[in-house]
Amino acid sequence: MKIVATGSAVPDLIVGNQELTGFLDTSDQWIRERTGIEQRRIHQGDLEMLAARAAQNALAAAGLSAGQLDLILCSNVHSRYLTPSLSSVVQGLIGASCPCLDINGACAGFVYALEIAAAHLQSRRYQRILLLCAEEPTRMVDWHDRSTCVLFGDAAAAAIAVPEGEAPLFKMGVVSNDQAIYAYHGPGNCPYEKSDRRETPLVMKGQEVYKFAVQSSQADIQYLCGQAGIGLEQVDYFLLHQANARIVEAVRSHLRQPPEKFPSNVRRYGNTSSAGLPLLLDEVNRQGKLQPGDTVILSAFGAGLTTGSCLLKW
Ligand code: ACO
Repeated sequence: MKIVATGSAVPDLIVGNQELTGFLDTSDQWIRERTGIEQRRIHQGDLEMLAARAAQNALAAAGLSAGQLDLILCSNVHSRYLTPSLSSVVQGLIGASCPCLDINGACAGFVYALEIAAAHLQSRRYQRILLLCAEEPTRMVDWHDRSTCVLFGDAAAAAIAVPEGEAPLFKMGVVSNDQAIYAYHGPGNCPYEKSDRRETPLVMKGQEVYKFAVQSSQADIQYLCGQAGIGLEQVDYFLLHQANARIVEAVRSHLRQPPEKFPSNVRRYGNTSSAGLPLLLDEVNRQGKLQPGDTVILSAFGAGLTTGSCLLKW
């Protein structure tokens, strides 16, 4: 599998930490020191429009038309649709005609999409796959809950994969825990409903997730290097889920690798769930930092608790 192009789209609205202090008992200093986040983007329209822009940017970078796509894999946790899938809505918006599938791997969704894409490409069933991550966590959080709402932002980002080059290596997993990070749907109005279900915005046990993230990410990275038979020093870039700059720094210092190998943009976007990794990948790619043949490790974790790491050659 080879990623031949990337693209992204972020909302126009920028909300800085200071602005949040107008309605929340928080401070710019607390958010910056505990998370590294200075601002986030908030989408005010329908997520499918942002997702379509990201997809179109990736297609333009690849020099492909939407009609040439064989499959769209979309990672999404929340949009205005329970059904149909977000990918099928975006498929129509961009003028594609291929099959589509949504997956929910929370913040690890991009790596899950990569793994599914790699299997399809290896079987030669499909030739050109659009991987699209579109997320609006700002619609899931309670904006009175300072422990969650300051962390998140919205974004969409995409990549196009084709069957070339070396097979990537993956380390995927789930440590089932439905109380570390969760949000519940509303109960509906079924007259036969007996449970006491109620709609709940995103709840997160921050410290528990923090420890899990640092431990699983560094362990998965070491596992992948072992499988590839290379040392950590032979990896050119480590792209980690952008949830918190302190998590990235803790993994980096545990692995004893230099900071320039761990690019980060959480300062500008906050945690954009599964869109965070392809957004960072697109940024690094467009900056011309990635050279053909570079070894790149992507590593993410999220609600589930899901983990996904991938070692690939650029
Ligand atoms: N502003 C000011 N004070 C705050 C804020 C805020 N926004 N949020 C919490 N505090 C307070 C708490 O109330 C607490 O006060 P207390 O000591 O009086 O009780 C104090 O700050 C410390 O709170 P902690 O939760 O211990 O702070 P911590 O250093 O653990 O940082 C954080 C919290 C940033 C959430 C951290 O735990 C973290 O990043 N966890 C990982 C989260 C993560 O990666 N989530 C991604 C999940 S991906 C997905 O799928 C959604």
